[in-house]
Amino acid sequence: MRIFLDTANINEIRQAAKLGIISGVTTNPSLVAKENRCDLRDVIREITSIINGPISAEVLSSDPRGMIEEAQQISSWSPNVVVKIPISAAGLEAISALCLRGIKTNMTLCFSLNQAILGALAGATYVSPFVGRLDDIGHDGMALIAEMVKVFRQYGFPSQVIAASIRHPLHCVAAARAGAHIATVPYRVLMQMIDHPLTERGISLFAADWQRIARG
Ligand code: G3P
Repeated sequence: MRIFLDTANINEIRQAAKLGIISGVTTNPSLVAKENRCDLRDVIREITSIINGPISAEVLSSDPRGMIEEAQQISSWSPNVVVKIPISAAGLEAISALCLRGIKTNMTLCFSLNQAILGALAGATYVSPFVGRLDDIGHDGMALIAEMVKVFRQYGFPSQVIAASIRHPLHCVAAARAGAHIATVPYRVLMQMIDHPLTERGISLFAADWQRIARG
């Protein structure tokens, strides 16, 4: 499983990039707004200068023509940019048209296996089921990931599954077990994935034992 960072915060992206384990970044309009940035192109260009991998940027139009026009603009910013498009009839039309033009897409706001299958058939490069938001309403978000992985494999769909709306480290473990190609994680969750109390305790014990012997 590859790990993407789910943020538009440049500082977080810089910090995470140093670890050498981040393969891409996903953003959405809420994440960009949270950073008080209104020029999406600037934000995306800054991210592409830090991470050499797929960077998702979302369209805001709701009709196919507008989505396609926006997608063409967004994809011209860098070869690494992936255009995020919400699932809808208009979204599927746009994804199909963009697939024919060789523009990479990430079908977002996916909450069901039916939506996921349609995204894959339209030719979405990535399909992003929102695990946390499904859990929020009492549905099993991770079950959707497992079903998608199974069905995509069964039919040889090339679309990759991005486990999105990840809220805690157990979501990452479950996404890996379910076979998600990618988990896109907030910076806070990435840091939580690193931590383990026994590791911290072990480091302190090693240091204390060494100090004792070094002091003689
Ligand atoms: O990748 C999608 C993500 O940004 C949504 O997360 O926590 O707003 O459901 P959340």
